[in-house]
Amino acid sequence: MSSKTSTQQIVLITGATAGIGRTTALYLAKQGRHVIATGRNTAALATLRAEAEASSLKLDTVELDVTSADSIARAVASVDQLTNHHGVDVLVNNAGYGALGPSAEITDAEMRRQYDTNVFGLMSVTRAFLPAMRARRAGRIINVSSLGGRFTLPYFGVYNSTKYAVESLSDALRYELHAFGIFVTLIEPGAIRTNFESTALSGVGAFDQSAYGESLKKVDALSKRMDRVAAEPIVIARAIERAVRVRRPAARYVAPRMNHMVLMLKSVMPTCAFDWSMRKMGYLTPKDLGLTGKSVPSALKA
Ligand SMILES: NC(=O)c1ccc[n+]([C@@H]2O[C@H](COP(=O)([O-])OP(=O)(O)OC[C@H]3O[C@@H](n4cnc5c(N)ncnc54)[C@H](OP(=O)(O)O)[C@@H]3O)[C@@H](O)[C@H]2O)c1
Repeated sequence: MSSKTSTQQIVLITGATAGIGRTTALYLAKQGRHVIATGRNTAALATLRAEAEASSLKLDTVELDVTSADSIARAVASVDQLTNHHGVDVLVNNAGYGALGPSAEITDAEMRRQYDTNVFGLMSVTRAFLPAMRARRAGRIINVSSLGGRFTLPYFGVYNSTKYAVESLSDALRYELHAFGIFVTLIEPGAIRTNFESTALSGVGAFDQSAYGESLKKVDALSKRMDRVAAEPIVIARAIERAVRVRRPAARYVAPRMNHMVLMLKSVMPTCAFDWSMRKMGYLTPKDLGLTGKSVPSALKA
C-alpha cells in the first residue's frame, strides 16, 4: 500500500467492543498492524486498550457509533490526529446486529434500526474514510456480511435482507473503487460464538402472543443448542487478516470454510426442497404452528 510496509498498515475496525470486532482488533495488532479499535461502549474500549497495552500492542481506541453523523465526524478528526493526517489503510466495517422475528410482524422501527446500523451505518463510515484512500490511490474496505447475505434463514428475513444489501453495495463499490487502487472484500461468517445470538433473541418475547409464539420458543431452544457448536471469532479474525495481507484479496471469504458446502448444497437443491428444509428448521410446519384439523389450509392437505 503506497510506500508503507505491511507492518505499518493502519486498520480501523467498527464494533470492536465485543465479539468478532474485538477479537480481530487484538489479532491484527498482534500481527503488527496499527489498529484503531472503535465502538460506542467507552468502558469496553478502555478495557480493550488496557489489554493491548499490557501486551505492548499498537492499538488505539476511538469512540464511534456508526448510526451517528456527529460521532462519525468526530472519529474522522481523531483518526486524522492519530495518523498524522494519513487516514486509514484498511477499514473493517464490522458493527452490526440482527433481531430475530417473523418478517411480517417486526415493526418498521426495528426494521429501520437494523438498516440504520448494518447498511446506512456501514455506508456512512465508508464515505467518511474513503477520500483519504482515494487520494492515496490505495486502500482496502472489508465488509463483514454473513452467510445470511447469500441465503435467508427463517425469522431472520429482516436481518438477512440488510446483509443482502451489504453484499450488493460491496459488489458495486468493488467495481467503482478498483481504478483508485481500493479493494473491497466481503467476509461471510457462519455461526460464530459471540453476543450476536443473545442480541438476536432478546426481542422474541414480543411475539409470544402471535401465531408464531410456540414455534419461536422452539427456535430459541434450537438456537441455544446451535451456539454450542458455533465457531470461535478467531476464525473470522483470520479471514479478515488474510483480506488485509494478501496482494489481491478475493471478493468474498466464507468462514469457517466448511460453509462452502452449505452454499453448494443450496445451489443444487430445488427451491421447493430448500424451502422445506428451512420450514422444518424454523418449526414452521402447520403442526409446529398448532394448525390442526380445519385450520390447516386446504392447499396443504394431501
Ligand atoms: N456471530 C455470528 O454468528 C455472525 C454471523 C454472521 C455475521 N455476523 C456479523 O458479524 C458482525 C459482528 O457481530 P458479532 O457476532 O461480533 O456480534 P457482537 O458480539 O454482538 O458484536 C457486535 C458489535 O457491533 C457493535 N455495534 C452494534 N451497533 C453499533 C453501532 N451503532 N455503532 C458501533 N458499534 C455498534 C456492538 O457494540 P455494542 O456493544 O455497543 O452494542 C459490538 O461491538 C456483525 O456485522 C454481524 O452481523 C455475525
